[in-house]
Amino acid sequence: MAGSSQTEPNQDQTAAPLGVSAMSDEFVKCPHAYYQSALSTAPVFQDQETGMYWIMRHDLIKQVAKDTETFSSRIDVIADVYKDGMDPEVAEIRGGGVTRIATLLTQDPPEHRTYRDLVNMTFAMDKVLAMRPYMAEIANSLIDEFPKDGPVEFISAFAAPLPVTIIADQLGVPRERADNIKDWSDAIVDLLGQVGDREHQIDCARRERASSDYLFSEVERCRKDPKQNIISDLCTLTYHPLDGEPRPLNDEELISILTQLMVAGNETSTNTIAGGMWYLAQDPDLLAQLRDGDERTMKVFVEEILRIWSPNQGQFRRTTRDVDVEGVIIPKGAMVHLRYGAGNFDDSVFTDPETIDLSRPKPRQHLTFGTGIHTCVGAPLARQEILTGFQVLLDRFNRFELAEDPADLSVHRHYNLRGLTKLHINCIE
Ligand code: HEM
Repeated sequence: MAGSSQTEPNQDQTAAPLGVSAMSDEFVKCPHAYYQSALSTAPVFQDQETGMYWIMRHDLIKQVAKDTETFSSRIDVIADVYKDGMDPEVAEIRGGGVTRIATLLTQDPPEHRTYRDLVNMTFAMDKVLAMRPYMAEIANSLIDEFPKDGPVEFISAFAAPLPVTIIADQLGVPRERADNIKDWSDAIVDLLGQVGDREHQIDCARRERASSDYLFSEVERCRKDPKQNIISDLCTLTYHPLDGEPRPLNDEELISILTQLMVAGNETSTNTIAGGMWYLAQDPDLLAQLRDGDERTMKVFVEEILRIWSPNQGQFRRTTRDVDVEGVIIPKGAMVHLRYGAGNFDDSVFTDPETIDLSRPKPRQHLTFGTGIHTCVGAPLARQEILTGFQVLLDRFNRFELAEDPADLSVHRHYNLRGLTKLHINCIE
């Protein structure tokens, strides 16, 4: 894997080229400057806090993601990623109910393919395109509820409920349960990011357990009385395992896949929509370019906010052998962090990466949806809901203004997800 060297290898494997903790306030608020300086000096380094090896450069991330034999996805993020491992009480709560087995995100070839084939069609482009009027209707109904006078808290009023309502409908979960979906997703995201103290982690484990109990009750309901929704589809289709006869998916497989579909797209889509509004509300020129442009301009905007905000800053792998990446020897069994957010700031791929450039050639080269066999299965859905969301917002309002001091920007403290906690804006008709 020692590839063509664009920079001198990082000899000091314990170097901390970021210069700050990846969980520090200044880093989570805006990691861009740290990325730009570290990319040129240490595109691969070991994070002292977690022991994880970060891969930062665009080409190296792609190479590593491709080599699934050396860089395995078979990890339990909560147990493996953080130095202190999983708290015993958290482990006990998580061990109850229907346990989730490795299907998509945490599975390797060849098994990964057998599950991925089942969900590839779920959000295929033609299905997603047909959802445009329905998505616009949800976006419009959310805007109808914005306060008539004064600022709106954009995340709770729009950026969060839009993707949550859509995934609830698609799964076949009643809309009254959308708040639960948000609550469970938040809990699982906080568990994965080891957010908060021990008590919060235990609370999150209980909420995660509630989510699998609920999903299981829905599975049982759909098995008896299938409807037109994803849960019913997954309950009724035929799975072709590598080592046995074709059969329906079992309980553990169903809960694993459904949990990923329920959680994976909520926080990330919310954070992209909120991140896009954060830029739009402060940049009238950007808004003018969108108004002057066509649908392609809008689509490039979506790609640019996915790139620049990078709501999923990175993902994890474990090495199955000693391996040399750009002069850094990563030992067998080490945790590796593919830092997609940094790859999105690699100026050998993205000229002037700090700028939202609506004429950027190849705007889809960003790594926000990952790369290789695990590339996000929900990407077409996410792209469309972000696109439709902004199209409706631009139709309904003339301009947007930040209703808070940009210095008060408050961001979730999370190892690999990036998102604002709140965003007050004035929407001017
Ligand atoms: C802006 C929104 C989204 C972002 C940034 C995002 C990001 C990602 C990334 C980076 C991966 C690859 C993980 C890896 O490298 O190991 C991934 C995988 C995945 N995503 Fe998304 N995602 C988004 C929306 C969604 C949506 C809407 C869904 C489903 C409703 C979804 C479901 C999944 C699933 C099931 C996987 C696992 C695929 C596999 O391992 O084969 N995502 N996503």
